[in-house]
Amino acid sequence: MPVQNKPLLSVLSGGKTDIIPLWLMRQAGRYLPEYRALREAKGGFLELVFDSEAAAEITLQPIRRFGFDGAILFSDILIVPHALGQDLAFEAGEGPRLSPRLVDAALASLERVEARLQPIYDTVEKVAARLPTQTTFLGFAGSPWTVATYMVAGQGSREQAEARLHAYRDPTAFGEIIDAIADMTIDYLSGQITAGVDAVQLFDSWSGSLAPAQFERWVIAPTARIVAALKARHPGVPVIGFPKGAGGKLAAYARETQVGAIGLDETVDPAVAVADLPDDLPVQGNLDPFALLAGGEALESAVERILSRLRGRPHIFNLGHGIIKETPIAHVERLVALVRQA
Ligand code: CP3
Repeated sequence: MPVQNKPLLSVLSGGKTDIIPLWLMRQAGRYLPEYRALREAKGGFLELVFDSEAAAEITLQPIRRFGFDGAILFSDILIVPHALGQDLAFEAGEGPRLSPRLVDAALASLERVEARLQPIYDTVEKVAARLPTQTTFLGFAGSPWTVATYMVAGQGSREQAEARLHAYRDPTAFGEIIDAIADMTIDYLSGQITAGVDAVQLFDSWSGSLAPAQFERWVIAPTARIVAALKARHPGVPVIGFPKGAGGKLAAYARETQVGAIGLDETVDPAVAVADLPDDLPVQGNLDPFALLAGGEALESAVERILSRLRGRPHIFNLGHGIIKETPIAHVERLVALVRQA
């Protein structure tokens, strides 16, 4: 598919478009009644992820409803720890659980089950065959640091305490965890690209919790290795980096990882952030998910502010983080209209 026909891919590839491409992080999910209905029917979140027919349908739901320029694969960043050999469960209302957690067990005790990635590739193939030709298909994985915080603690953790402590106390063992995640992530994203995604995003939701030297070692270095490996295997396929919370470390992240585009969370002023970034580096973001939840004048002015601050440079409109599940559909429709008329 020629890049020019896909506005989002065109911006990611350094081209020009007439529109500002738009998609939303977590656009497939619980704020959509059609998602909730399918989840109810299948019994749970992981049941959806491993049922490639259901996962393909969920990936397409927000495209049908809103006509976003990007479709993001429906899956989860914790599929990689599962394929590295941890058991994975999502308890209702409690979030994810991974076992054995690596504060108690050695990485070497895990037995890899790479077949767990196959249903995800099947989902990619199904979606690629069904997407509108103008829609860019985005694959994704978690960045090694963020994935490691879950593997070490066995669940979400306050301030990522277990992983941060482990990284200081035993950097050799922690480095082996990071390297194992990075190696599998390279193969996993490469597999998604081979199966049909146009670009990939690395979610580093917890990169903001690290001191500068730790950020260099556990965020920038493994991300740079993933980006270099993907560029070698798949020249021209864009990699979007999303180092949430990186703040003043964004420019170093962009320069040293060589990502092809960078996601800005809602805490940064986009005009300030881009002053330190290369003029031709596409930025993605950064509407506050709470402005979208609030709607009304708060939404109008927040959208206008972002559009005016990023006018004239490569920009992909998105939230600064995932959509909140209570967000009314009408607010998303209004957002689409505002960006479309910009
Ligand atoms: O963006 C998309 O629409 C694509 C799908 C996607 C999901 N998770 C689906 C999901 C993506 C890109 C993710 C990434 C992800 N998963 C991250 C990084 C991005 C971020 O939001 O910070 C993280 C940290 C995870 C781990 C994870 N998955 C947690 C902590 C939870 C529980 C959160 C909660 O609110 O219950 C999940 C579950 C999850 N992943 C859901 C969805 C749609 C909700 C599942 C449900 O209850 O139906």
